[in-house]
Amino acid sequence: MDMRTRIASLLCGAMHTQWPEADSLPGDADVRGMLEVPPDEKMGDYAFPCFRLAKALRMGPPVIAQKLAAAWGAEETARVECVGGYLNFFLNRASFARETLQAVSAAGGRYGGGDEGKGKTVCLDYSSINIAKRFHIGHLSTTMIGHSLRRIYDFLGYTTVGINHLGDWGTQFGKMICAYKKWGSRDEVEEGGVSALEALYVRFHKEAENDPSLEDEGRAWFKRIEEGDQEALELFNWFKELTLKDAARVYDLLGVSFDSYAGESFYIDKMEPVIQELRDKGLLVQSEGAWVVDLSEDNMPPCLVIKKDGTTIYATRDITAAIYRQNTYHFDKCLYVVAYQQDLHFRQVFRVLEKMGYPWAKDCVHVSFGMISFEGQALSTRKGNTVHLDDLLQEAVEKARSIIEEKSPNLPNKDEVARQIGIGAVVYADLSNNRIKDIDFSWSRALNFDGETGPYVQYTHARCCSLLRKAAETQLPEADYSALTDDEAQALLLLISRFPDTVREAAAKYEPSMITRAVTDIAQAYNKYYYEHRILEGELAAQAAKVALTAAVRDVIRTGLWLIGIEAPERM
Ligand code: ARG
Repeated sequence: MDMRTRIASLLCGAMHTQWPEADSLPGDADVRGMLEVPPDEKMGDYAFPCFRLAKALRMGPPVIAQKLAAAWGAEETARVECVGGYLNFFLNRASFARETLQAVSAAGGRYGGGDEGKGKTVCLDYSSINIAKRFHIGHLSTTMIGHSLRRIYDFLGYTTVGINHLGDWGTQFGKMICAYKKWGSRDEVEEGGVSALEALYVRFHKEAENDPSLEDEGRAWFKRIEEGDQEALELFNWFKELTLKDAARVYDLLGVSFDSYAGESFYIDKMEPVIQELRDKGLLVQSEGAWVVDLSEDNMPPCLVIKKDGTTIYATRDITAAIYRQNTYHFDKCLYVVAYQQDLHFRQVFRVLEKMGYPWAKDCVHVSFGMISFEGQALSTRKGNTVHLDDLLQEAVEKARSIIEEKSPNLPNKDEVARQIGIGAVVYADLSNNRIKDIDFSWSRALNFDGETGPYVQYTHARCCSLLRKAAETQLPEADYSALTDDEAQALLLLISRFPDTVREAAAKYEPSMITRAVTDIAQAYNKYYYEHRILEGELAAQAAKVALTAAVRDVIRTGLWLIGIEAPERM
């Protein structure tokens, strides 16, 4: 049990003993939620505001605080103080250390996890790449935020469904086929892969400027795909295969996987009944030859469902996909990890679902995020100013490799560790800020072993592992936790004890960066501790306590890194 839970349950017990007659006293979980962390440590480690009890007890908050303080005798706290309507708890440092470290070790590598999600399903729509386009750095955030959220929800016991909602439908594929038929060759595309497809697409647009009839040809090819024409479909599926093969390399490097690749084309034969349903419910109105759902009441432009030429659009497929996911997975939540540019699109889609009478529409959440730039440069596919993710990752691994060569030339399995560090550096850079903020990726920042970076946190983990290997050479007695009452150890313990709450907050706010922050703070606090204290010196029982602290730091860092999709090498 963590210290907050322990204090809450003791406090709850104290209330019920003090006022056995009172009804509507809060329960353990409520009290736990009401406990605050004071802004200044002079005010204690936890504070309980008595204001919300005043009504039930018909007493002033300061009186309540005094009565509870007078009856308080738990050894977990060194003392309690009343300040106004607050009850401030000062933890007994040695027992705080014991409770915290025992909780970490009892969790067996799952400290901070739980089963509150049992029986609940979360669908996550992330990465969702586009066919015939290379995987570029712009798709890194959706991939890693989604992957991390999935691990966080898994860790809390939810059933998760990872969905790669492929962008595999639209007139651009007709244009692709048209360009391929005119200027492409099988060998060239087989060899060049997605880059060759991209080049064909660019050429199509250049030539179409002078020859507008190409656009008609492109549309005709798309129509053939829609009608299931064999040649068109074969080419289209081949393009898809090439794209997924390319993407698989990136996913492998990142350790990312999906349960479903049902993309836009998957919904082609499922839209008709949904459109009929919209009609039956009186939601479709005609506007300039198109069919739309009016959202003026909600101060939004209408949601386009069927275009003037009778074809469906992105939104039609998303409405259909949401219904399909609810019917198939019965989700309690469906998260869409997509850049903020699509904010309006999702607000429209969710509102349409609500208007259709689906109560679960409120469980659809757009988890949006900011833009990524590279070494201070904005990226734009159109201007040809892109950074391909596999190049970036490859380069990260090579750079990590040369740093290892310099710092620890004798390290065993250098290639494996270089991969872990290189990828870790990129992922950390992506998940280190509040997701809605724009980020700039810079090599010098990402790979700095001393800054707030992936390699820094990984290095701290490896340092713990190395110390624990050394400690294992000596038989240590039972730990004496009074060896951990100094400020540095206590600061570290406090951070560790808050980790389980951080995991839950990260899940509730869809914010992996909170975990990145937590592991970074723990790594920094441990390094501070490490420089001020000799861990493998002094009394053996004291050593045992310091070793237990080190083991807890290793466990929590490893778990935290895993939750954000970063590996934790044991040697660096
Ligand atoms: N393929 C789209 C893009 O790259 C993202 C799709 C997001 N998911 C969705 N259900 N709309 O912009």
